[in-house]
Amino acid sequence: MGLSGFGGLDPNPFKHIRRYAAHHPEIGIALGDIGHDATAAVIRDGQIVFAIEEERLNRSKHYMGVPERAAIACASAVGEALDAIHLSYYLHPSLEHRKRRVETCAPFLNGAGVEAIEREFNHVQHWVSQYQQRWPRLRYVDHHLAHSASAFYCSGFERALIVVIDGQGESSSTTVMLGDAEGLHPVVQLPVTSSLGILYAAITAFLGFEPIEDEYKIMGLAAYGDGDEFRSFFEEIIHYEDKGAFYIPSLLDKPIERMMKWESRLGVPRTPSEPIEDRHIAIADSLQKAVERTMMRLLEYHESRLKTRHLCLAGGVALNCSMNGVIDRSGLFERMFVQPAAGDPGAALGAAFVSYYAEHPNAPRYPMEHVYWGPEYSDVEVLRALEAYRSEICWTRPVDYIGEVARLLAQGKVLGWFQGRMEFGPRALGNRSILADPRRAEMKDRVNQMVKKREEFRPFAPSVTYEAAENYFDLRARNQYEYMTIAVRAKPERRQEIPAVVHVNGTARVHVVRREVNPRYWELLVRFGQETGVPVLLNTSFNIKGEPIVCTPEDAIRCFIGTGIDYLAIQGYLVEKCGNNVRPQ
Ligand SMILES: [Fe+2]
Repeated sequence: MGLSGFGGLDPNPFKHIRRYAAHHPEIGIALGDIGHDATAAVIRDGQIVFAIEEERLNRSKHYMGVPERAAIACASAVGEALDAIHLSYYLHPSLEHRKRRVETCAPFLNGAGVEAIEREFNHVQHWVSQYQQRWPRLRYVDHHLAHSASAFYCSGFERALIVVIDGQGESSSTTVMLGDAEGLHPVVQLPVTSSLGILYAAITAFLGFEPIEDEYKIMGLAAYGDGDEFRSFFEEIIHYEDKGAFYIPSLLDKPIERMMKWESRLGVPRTPSEPIEDRHIAIADSLQKAVERTMMRLLEYHESRLKTRHLCLAGGVALNCSMNGVIDRSGLFERMFVQPAAGDPGAALGAAFVSYYAEHPNAPRYPMEHVYWGPEYSDVEVLRALEAYRSEICWTRPVDYIGEVARLLAQGKVLGWFQGRMEFGPRALGNRSILADPRRAEMKDRVNQMVKKREEFRPFAPSVTYEAAENYFDLRARNQYEYMTIAVRAKPERRQEIPAVVHVNGTARVHVVRREVNPRYWELLVRFGQETGVPVLLNTSFNIKGEPIVCTPEDAIRCFIGTGIDYLAIQGYLVEKCGNNVRPQ
């Protein structure tokens, strides 16, 4: 079993980060800021059995702490006591890592700064020791090795370039590896001073949004810009070196000094309540382009040497689907696989793979075919949950359930859609989704305002059948777009058919659905296509702003009752709001 997360100063990582910054005001990059997204994932004989983020169970978003419930759920899924399972941890805060962290940061720091880095690293070692006390046989795995394993062992590729790119691991922010029949081979690691993840988080904060949570909004905002107006700023702070390497020394500046320096070039930072201006869009645009340029430069160098033609990506920055789209369209690789749980939940899974293949180097590998590794609930449990809310809802069990859902969607209704095992990773892929008609441009605003309660510049994603996908989108290989990890271009002549799911720059974070992967959801897309001529649905995660994706039937019912969602379609039951608590639509 692989585990991620550690307890910081607060289970809420946003509160933790603020309190931690007050403890370490001299630190520009704090390892202690990771520890969020506690997760457990269990594999048996090299195959994933169960995986879930702790937030889905304890309902505390990006939970920072030990994944107690997730670990118990994983153990029960394999029918073993927790003590009987090999446990692997997604971090290895060793003395060697501390030494490397200090050595790579020291050129940019004075003596006090170096001491602060050491003190902060010790802080994390203290937190991680919680795990060792509890599970003495726990095996520590280097963070980026865990991320690499999560991508390569799930990719189905025999040989691939692997790039991990996140905020930071113990002493690295970017790792390049080669994966082949023998396993994973390190190629190069860039230190924490090269972190594109921390750069993105810092600009996210500069623009008045929440780091860790809102980077996707900055990516969405970037699509509204096109002039790369602040290119010179990013070229100044990102120092390019040979062999694709890069460094961003200003990340080590004390946060307050960094903010003042950036302000002199970018203008005044935005506060969350201020309106978004053209300047903010231009900053987001130039940030996104700088990240894409830097990544392409790194990939071009290593592909030219290793000639893998296949690419695996993991780490939180690999959730940047716009960047992945640029890589995809460049044609540098024939195929790419982005670990769907690219953030630290995936590192928990990867830690389990590292330990397993260390002990069984010749064991077969199994490509990841789907993300449905979480819990499921029987129809009896669903009915029991419905009964508990009888005063507020009423329901039917239609004979032609899928057809009825398709008809309601075609009529413009917004539905919560719940079935089977929960998705692992940040994307809802048809088992815990909110669905709507993508043909109606107004759906974007309606779902945003009444359900998701979020900013309107964030685009929604389309689900489309495997058979129809290439009619609507420019795809290079249909089977690499099943996880909403790559933004592709919608075909110009078809964009007006699905305006609610095509972003302002003509791209879409597409979810291609194969019948054998999710038969019921695929059938819904087909039936919606028969109703409307368009086998595409607007698909967004089933949750409201600030909450994790719903996990249990009860979570789904509560979310349904508390929002403007018109219907809840839950494992054959079609639910409406009734009684005294009907919400305005
Ligand atoms: Fe990570």
